[in-house]
Amino acid sequence: MERTFLMVKPDGVQRGLIGEILSRFERKGLQLVAAKLLQITPELAEKHYAEHVGKPFYPPLVDFITSGPVFAMVWQGDNVIALARALIGKTNAIDAAPGTIRSDYAVHTNFNLIHGSDSPESAQREIGIFFSEHELIQYVQTI
Ligand code: CMP
Repeated sequence: MERTFLMVKPDGVQRGLIGEILSRFERKGLQLVAAKLLQITPELAEKHYAEHVGKPFYPPLVDFITSGPVFAMVWQGDNVIALARALIGKTNAIDAAPGTIRSDYAVHTNFNLIHGSDSPESAQREIGIFFSEHELIQYVQTI
């Protein structure tokens, strides 16, 4: 059983798409482990996007990700990291396959609605940035 970090970005929250996006992961059969609405500070943005510091798109990325509330989540399931990224679609909406979240709702790479961890290492790091251990639900599986 794997865990991943997903985050509806400010454009998704502002457009009222939290429920629509969440329902796609629920319908897939993945399990929500933690969730919260929060405003990202520049310091938190730098932690989360550390690998992108110095890239040309980093300053606008920080401006955008700190511009309004985000909805941060942890999900679990078998192969959840790859499955979530498949449901999300490619970073650039033009390359995202039809039926994916970014293909259905996004137009720009900069405003691409949702972030999903790209590896087990990123997932562990990102979950640790946004959530403490006691916020992560331990399910007793009954189904
Ligand atoms: P995300 O998955 O949150 O990770 C980094 C973000 O930077 C990415 O989604 C995009 O929103 C944004 N970004 C902007 N330009 C680029 C680019 N050229 N390559 C990758 N990410 C980009």
